[in-house]
Amino acid sequence: MARAKITIVGAGNVGATCAHWCASMELGDIILLDIPALEDVPKGKALDLMQSSPIMGFDAKITGTNDYADTVNSDVVVVTAGIARKPGMSRDDLLATNTKIVSNVAEHVKATSPNAVVIVVSNPLDAMVQQFKKVSGMPAKQVIGQAGVLDTARYRTFIAMELGCSVEDVSALLMGGHGDTMVPMPSCTSVGGVPIRRLLDEKRLNEIVDRARKGGAEIVSLLKTGSAYYAPAAATAQMVEAVVKDKRRLIPCAAYCDKEYGVGGYYVGVPVILGAGGVQKIVELKLEPEEQTAFNHSVQAVKDLIAAIEKLA
Ligand code: APR
Repeated sequence: MARAKITIVGAGNVGATCAHWCASMELGDIILLDIPALEDVPKGKALDLMQSSPIMGFDAKITGTNDYADTVNSDVVVVTAGIARKPGMSRDDLLATNTKIVSNVAEHVKATSPNAVVIVVSNPLDAMVQQFKKVSGMPAKQVIGQAGVLDTARYRTFIAMELGCSVEDVSALLMGGHGDTMVPMPSCTSVGGVPIRRLLDEKRLNEIVDRARKGGAEIVSLLKTGSAYYAPAAATAQMVEAVVKDKRRLIPCAAYCDKEYGVGGYYVGVPVILGAGGVQKIVELKLEPEEQTAFNHSVQAVKDLIAAIEKLA
């Protein structure tokens, strides 16, 4: 069987690191694409990564390009094109610039890989994935956004740090938009099968949730020159793996919800079953009253961003 063809648009920090994780997980052959102005940089990064393969022991062909012709009929396209946050900026401050960039990428991907599963990573995430779907016209189940896996990973990391236990034993879910309104779900958080509320009191849990919610900003303020990329790239690679191996992972993704959760036609973070072809199912949970209120608030924040994009046009 041929290897999966994985295109990563944007060969910057998130894109190149995602290529690194995907290659080392042997998920397929990888094409790193960036703008012509960057000339041979994607080729250089690809060659460098390829040369790590005999040392690390993985088989993957990694190439760099500025031309979408090299990406034709990709199985998966990861979109990391766009500018990243600097200290003092919110994800929403990226809106105008990244809307133009993501629209441009969407037109190219529609023309070259209309059957691909597309995973958008560019921020502000929920609005960018909606924009990609609108411009490309590709089916909703094929176009998803990465955010929930990352936000959940941050939350799981902080819980494991607090309890001094393995991150592997922490299972959790976060819903809503990728921003300050994201909705933690203590009712869906457990450690080694033990509900989190039996291990941590509400006050400490709220502090951890708050740190997870601001996890991206914490890293921006430490890095000063850009935003997080190791964990965002790893989260994306896990989604690529779910698709190319048809793993049917039940993970939170930004998925297009119409009747689901009463959202009414917007992308927002919800638990999905992710496998071949993209979203195989949106899993609808009965939310606790405070979770529902927080989710509605988060959906409203996403709607406000979409309205802001419409005003840009
Ligand atoms: N087509 C392809 N690539 C593009 C385009 C375009 N139209 N416009 C910009 N790029 C490329 C840039 O040239 C750059 O190499 O996208 C890359 C972005 O890389 P970085 O600046 O290193 O940013 P990064 O940290 O990777 O973040 C990218 O992901 O997590 C989000 O908020 C983050 O929106 C940001 C995106």
